[in-house]
Amino acid sequence: MARATTVHVCSECGHETARWAGQCPGCRAWNTLVEEAVARPVASGRRGAAGAGAQAAKPVALARVEASDVARLSTGIGELDRVLGGGVVPGSLVLIGGSPGIGKSTLTTMALANLAAAGRRTLYVSAEESAAQIKLRAERLPHGDALGIPTIAETDLATVLATLERERPDVCVVDSVQTLHASALSGAPGSVGQVREVAGEIMRVAKTHAVAVLLVGHVTKEGALAGPRVLEHLVDCVLQFEGERERTYRTLRALKNRFGSTSEAGVFEMRSDGLVEVLDASARFVGEATRAPGSVVLAAMEGSRPLLVEVQALVAQSDLEIPRRVVSGIDRNRLALVLAVLARHGGVGVGTSDVFVNVVGGVRVDEPGADLAVALAVASAARGIPLASDEQDAPPLACFGELGLTGELRTVAHAERRVAEARKFGLQAIVTPEAGTLRAALRTLRSREREQASTPVAAL
Ligand code: TYD
Ligand code: MG
Repeated sequence: MARATTVHVCSECGHETARWAGQCPGCRAWNTLVEEAVARPVASGRRGAAGAGAQAAKPVALARVEASDVARLSTGIGELDRVLGGGVVPGSLVLIGGSPGIGKSTLTTMALANLAAAGRRTLYVSAEESAAQIKLRAERLPHGDALGIPTIAETDLATVLATLERERPDVCVVDSVQTLHASALSGAPGSVGQVREVAGEIMRVAKTHAVAVLLVGHVTKEGALAGPRVLEHLVDCVLQFEGERERTYRTLRALKNRFGSTSEAGVFEMRSDGLVEVLDASARFVGEATRAPGSVVLAAMEGSRPLLVEVQALVAQSDLEIPRRVVSGIDRNRLALVLAVLARHGGVGVGTSDVFVNVVGGVRVDEPGADLAVALAVASAARGIPLASDEQDAPPLACFGELGLTGELRTVAHAERRVAEARKFGLQAIVTPEAGTLRAALRTLRSREREQASTPVAAL
């Protein structure tokens, strides 16, 4: 008798049924049944209890384990290599997540182009675009051998696996995991069961033949790696490519990395000829900083690298019952906290005003060190007093520090490196957590206020 090849398993209670249903018959939860391939007999045999023919393994002390020094493959993109921890590890599985249009296909094509030019065997599997579309992109990329990348446009998983087995490339890109289809499962491409099966099968083949795979995954509107979330434990590295599509700056971060640190981040700019690494991001952001009221330079950390970014705030009378709080590049809840501390401990209340805070250039700064910059920018915008000195060509004010709920400034990691970065770009006035309290930090603003009061200003 032919056995069913798939079952539907409830992700809540583990109940198995042969057919899909909206509600789990076991625990009555809705939409929790996920289709899975029935475990292969080999695998189930191994799972058997001791005594069922299983051989005991001999544990080895870690000191005696031979760690072969893996030679990493350089992608020729310095920022990508650094985020990966020094290049692609042969046989590893890397998941690259990001919203549509952010540049995942561009980045992976560029990496393959460089690897191909360095004599590596490559393979680009596109389940989203036709070969002609991929060619159009490749023609725009000036570096490496983009047009020489062996490419297949295929959505069937079995075909992709067979191609992988035959070609055995050093590095393969699968774009994307959500559009490949495993015919063993009936679910639509991109469903949890499909994504898991596709990634699992690709990993099996890739590990057998030491193929490094860059797996592209899309992110949902909510920002979670849709589907790929279920893959995070499976893959070796999870990279997140983020930024706003309309802006040119993009950051690449490691969320998980079995072969390196997760604190690294790379900055890119999307140009007409592909992604360009931004090595002097600080210089650009400082050069573009406005010095107007509501503007301050934040000495942030992007992974292990300091980065100077401009934080801008606008405070305007609101005509709404509940005033707007609009942020871009920082966390909205963090703004709420900063505003509360500003009102309670800084004497700057913006309760009835709309507050907009923006990190210039589409950069995201998700770190507590940004608090002080947000506080100073908002206070400066609320008072209409610039933080930069009045003198001609005076550089903008730099700052960093976390705000405590009692109005104290808390130290953050890498203080010296942040100060050094600010000095390097000519920013001498720096407010650091050493100021002690928010009130003390706001003195910069008060002294500017006095400066302005003493110099007669032309009426508007
Ligand atoms: P793409 O890599 O296709 O994004 P993803 O795979 O993440 O969906 O490219 C995203 C956008 O970048 C696309 O709208 C066109 C633009 N782009 C450039 O501006 N310059 C270029 O050289 C390339 C290849 C794309
Ligand atoms: Mg794409």
